[in-house]
Parts: sequence; structure tokens; C-alpha cells
Amino acid sequence: MKKVSPKFKSLAAKLLYWFAANARDLPWRRTRDPYAVWISEIMLQQTQVKTVIPYYERWMQSLPTIQDFAKAKPQRVLKLWEGLGYYRRVRLAQDAARLIMTKHSGSFPESFDEVVALPGVGRYTAGAICSIAFNQPTPILDGNVIRVLTRLLGIAGNPRSKTVNAELWRAAEELVIASGAPSPLNQGMMELGALICLPRQPKCPICPLRPDCFALRNQRVEDFPATAKRPAATLRRFIALVVKDGERLLVQRRPNGVVNAGLWEFPNVEVPVNAKDLKKLIPPFQITDRSRFIEIRHSITRYRIILEAYNAKLSSNSLLAETNSVWKTQAQMSKLPFTSAHRKVMQRTIHLQA
Ligand code: ADE
Repeated sequence: MKKVSPKFKSLAAKLLYWFAANARDLPWRRTRDPYAVWISEIMLQQTQVKTVIPYYERWMQSLPTIQDFAKAKPQRVLKLWEGLGYYRRVRLAQDAARLIMTKHSGSFPESFDEVVALPGVGRYTAGAICSIAFNQPTPILDGNVIRVLTRLLGIAGNPRSKTVNAELWRAAEELVIASGAPSPLNQGMMELGALICLPRQPKCPICPLRPDCFALRNQRVEDFPATAKRPAATLRRFIALVVKDGERLLVQRRPNGVVNAGLWEFPNVEVPVNAKDLKKLIPPFQITDRSRFIEIRHSITRYRIILEAYNAKLSSNSLLAETNSVWKTQAQMSKLPFTSAHRKVMQRTIHLQA
């Protein structure tokens, strides 16, 4: 066992005291079921707490056990995830659920090494599961914890660089060991980052670690964490084609092995950002109404994406086979998992028809 420094013991005690009084009542905090903790952590990887809550609750009602998840049809799983984005997370999670069924006889593994070996589970998520579900002193380090630790301890340098990152993991580990209470300590770190130690305008006057904070003492709170230069975002432009036949619309399923695999969308093509004449770019489709009826802008990883939707037709019905698209009614479409951007196109289409 590592030696515990009095400084870290004192920090941990203050944080635990604060967390006991200030923890939000979040649905995944009412359980220690490792399956539930795991699902919540996967959902929370790239998504905010308030967005995750309804998804988590719906998920646990629909698929309350690992067995249910392992057996579920991928389309059902994607439908439950629809709108959360980063769909690779849920595909890897289902691989993990199946692995738990075959390799671990259906019970969630408890050792850190076995947990971190599951598909889609990295050091952070394994640390969160082992500490929250099993109360093991495994550290966690995410954006919130990085902010707290760099400010508290005055850790300079890019927190994603190898040396600084290793220093941060060591500090997180020392703190969780010093606490003697891994589950609330780690959750307290997350909570402090989410409620008090905010990226901008942190609430230092009410912070429980105020007397100990390096950055505050030196009036340098805004200097931490050091920000790495991000590569400039790449702009990409897509044209979606809304083709109607009475009640039915043409839609297609994204193939396996591409981003957003298995999700549904309107037929669409990527075009040069500045393209003016779309005619040559979109066969076998023809735009029937030159004014686009919706434009959606969103970002995913390092791409800024513009999706423009137009009413269109097939230049000849015999060309349908070329498009990989199929006709679906609105009722059928509502049961399929759509990407968020294309779901907005669909809602606008329905709205305009009504
Ligand atoms: N962010 C990541 N994991 C979390 C958790 N368990 N509770 C609140 N926010 C989180």
C-alpha cells in the first residue's frame, strides 16, 4: 500500500464532506449494479448529464440486465441510443455485453484488468465502474477532474501530454487512496468539476477546497488547465434529398463499417463547400424545388457539418436500385433509428405536410 500524505488525506476529507451534502440526486447514483453504472458511464462519455438522464432511464426500463442487452437486436439498441450520438459507443458496448455473457458467465467482472479489457472501456471508464460499483480505489481522470486537479495542485503544461497526464493520474490515484472512500471521492471530484470548478467563472467563493487551491491563491484560476491548440475544424457540406411518393419517403440505412453505421437517413451526397450548381453532383436525383427547406449545422469530432435538404425526385423510377434507398411510411420511419440531423429533416418534412 502506498504511503498516504496528510495533505491528500485532508483534501479528500473536505471533498467527501462537501459531496455528502451537495451530491445531485442522479438516477445512476441510486444503484450499485455494475451494469447500470457501466451504461451510465458510457452514455456520459461524450454527453451532458441532463441529456443522459431520460436516455438512461428509458434504457434501464427496456434492457434491465446484461442478458437483455446482449440479446437485443442491434436496431433496437440503436433506437434507444438515437440522438445521443457517437454510436460506436453503443456497438462496442453490445460487444462487451456479449463477451460478459460468454466469458464471464453473465456476471460483470470485478477486477480492473478485466473491466478495462472490455470493448469501449478505457482507463477512465474502468476506474469509474470499479470505484462506483465496487468501491475499489481506482482513479478517474476526465475533463472535469483535470480541471479540478490542475487548479488545485497548480499542474502546468498540456494535460493531454504524456508527462502531465501521468502526473495527473498519479494525483488522482493518491487522492482516491487517501480518501478511504473511493466511490464518493471519485463522484465528488466529478461533481466539484460540474458544479463549482467550472471552465469559466468558477464558483471559488463556495468551493470546499478554496483554502488549498494553488490557482486561486495565485489568482491564476483562468490559467488552468493549460489549453492545447486544437486543429482547425474542417467544414463539410452535404445535400439531403427528400423524395416523396404519396405517404412514403425514400430513406436508406447506413452500411456497416462507416460512421453512424446502422442508422437511417435520407439519400444524401457530400458536395464541395462552395458548389453552386448541384445538378451534376446529385444524380440520379433532381431537385424539384430550388429553395432548400431546412439547413442544419452541427459538429462531430473535428468536422463542422452543413446539411441542406431539398425536395427532389428520381430522374427515372427505374433508377431506384442505384440508390440503395427504400420507401418507408412515416409510421415505419418513426420506429427506425435516425441520425439526429436527418431526424430534424424528417420532422420538418412532416411539419410542412401538416
Ligand atoms: N460524468 C461522468 N460520469 C459521471 C457520473 N457518474 N455522474 C455525474 N457526471 C458524470
